[in-house]
Amino acid sequence: MCGIVGYTGWREAQVVLLNNLARLEYRGYDSCGLALRGSPLTIVKDAVRVAELAKTITPVKSTSGIGHTRWATHGPPCKINAHPHLDCTGSIAVVHNGVITNYEKLRKQLTEEGHKFISETDTEVISHLVEKYLKGNLEEAVNSALKVLEGSYAIIVIADNDPALVFARKDSPMILGIGEKEYFIASDVPALLEYTNRVIYLEDGDAGVVTPQGIKITHAGQPVTREENKIHWTADQAQKGGYEHYMLKEIHEQPSILRETISEYLSSQSSSDISSFYGNNKSVLMLACGTSYHAAMIGKYVTEKLLNTSVRLEMASEFNYLSRTPYFPLTIGITQSGETADTLKALRRAKEAHSMVMAITNVVGSTASRSSNYVLYTRAGPEISVAATKSFTAQLGALYWLALSQSSLSIPEILLHEFRHLPSKVQEVLDMEEVIKLSANKLAGYENVFFIGRGINYPVALEGALKLKEISYIHSEAYAAGEIKHGPFALLSNKTPVIAIVMRDNCHDAMLTTIKEIRARGSPVFAIVEDTDTAIVDMADYLIPVPSIMDIFSPFITSVVMQLLAYFTAKKRGCPIDFPRNLAKSVTVE
Ligand code: M6R
Repeated sequence: MCGIVGYTGWREAQVVLLNNLARLEYRGYDSCGLALRGSPLTIVKDAVRVAELAKTITPVKSTSGIGHTRWATHGPPCKINAHPHLDCTGSIAVVHNGVITNYEKLRKQLTEEGHKFISETDTEVISHLVEKYLKGNLEEAVNSALKVLEGSYAIIVIADNDPALVFARKDSPMILGIGEKEYFIASDVPALLEYTNRVIYLEDGDAGVVTPQGIKITHAGQPVTREENKIHWTADQAQKGGYEHYMLKEIHEQPSILRETISEYLSSQSSSDISSFYGNNKSVLMLACGTSYHAAMIGKYVTEKLLNTSVRLEMASEFNYLSRTPYFPLTIGITQSGETADTLKALRRAKEAHSMVMAITNVVGSTASRSSNYVLYTRAGPEISVAATKSFTAQLGALYWLALSQSSLSIPEILLHEFRHLPSKVQEVLDMEEVIKLSANKLAGYENVFFIGRGINYPVALEGALKLKEISYIHSEAYAAGEIKHGPFALLSNKTPVIAIVMRDNCHDAMLTTIKEIRARGSPVFAIVEDTDTAIVDMADYLIPVPSIMDIFSPFITSVVMQLLAYFTAKKRGCPIDFPRNLAKSVTVE
């Protein structure tokens, strides 16, 4: 799970590559490096962030190069394991995202043939293979190397004596950017937006070369053309926009994202695209990981409530190890990035079992979108912070719309009305930021926190615990409120606060009972409550009021409270919010 970039044109390559790499750090940031064309190649790499690396580079007159930002998979983060990786002569350099599964066998063979390896990475076999096959033409040598590689890759190869950047992709994302007499290669769109919004999404199995004169793309050895797309995100949208962290910016984008998403879904065009998905089928399988799994839990609840359809929900990573693939006529994969390895594998498995697959994804051109029969895009825009926030809300929007739009009856006006008004309800929660910050400042002093919810807000409690642990490093666990007395009670004390989601739905009375029991054990209670609910006022230590909302829509606002609580708690603790330790935005390895 890494970010790769390439550039060839007329600008100073090192400036372009460093800028573009900085925007890919959400894909991995434990080390980074560059190779710049010249004779010899200039290689700069280290186990540092891109900004640190930039300080160490002396200007090089080169208008062509490649770069990499790494999330370690083979060998720990260190200078030697950082990309680019070189051949024995130091004249060929490779950057790679993905995993070469047969690298041990190849490394052994190449070593026997006299090649010397210096890193622990799987990637290094690629540069040595290219060296082995190079007979004057870099593209041909790369193509020969690709024939023996197994696994996943997006690679860019540069050599000191060849004008081309040679690229290839298989099961790892890669795009080309088109400028005026200049070309870019990257793992993802935000990397390029400062320079161009003209992009080509490469297909799996594509390879080719870019030079300042143009692009050549091949597939299975044959030249192909790929459509050029215009990206409507601005470079500014992909930046922090004045907020201290991407995460806070992305939390604040939620009302406008919901507004756009809802109006797009309500347009006839979007609904006609998915109108035939359910047909007469009455059961569906949902697959997802992490935050997307929590969105899917809510999606299951809503689908079963609004449609006469039963939903089986599986964590994609577990589904892949079921002894028998269950048959479902329909499968929905929920994945923000569209590149999560576990989810892609599970979707493939479902497809092989003859299921009709829909991807709900935020990334146009992602692997999930390409490999599915239907795609319902979320319109969250680029999400840079590792912690998913706006993409989760956008996933909820998509899942609710899918359930609403597939109903054979016309959608009750009251539901549509509430759906349309979600952006302003979310805005009301954002306007309560200072109140939420007060609770967060208290939470920041604890090392263990419980979250509880019931019914449709149980997944929100799970998401709250995930958000808090990933960015504040506080140990947090979530329970369905009714389960907390079946074991977790043993841990309750004045050192273990409990965050309770208490909306006025059919779980309200049961939640109040649980809260009384928790307080009797001495745990401080932070309650998220509707602002008109007086029943709980004397029962909680800290109240976080939210606007009243129709039961079924409450996750849209309670989850925003969870995001802000996690954000301000992490901020109080001085954590690196956008780039939490050991995590990466897109988990493209199993
Ligand atoms: O891209 P995906 O939605 O498939 O990602 C799945 C998880 O890795 C992701 O939701 C992860 O849990 C979040 N970044 C946590 O905030």
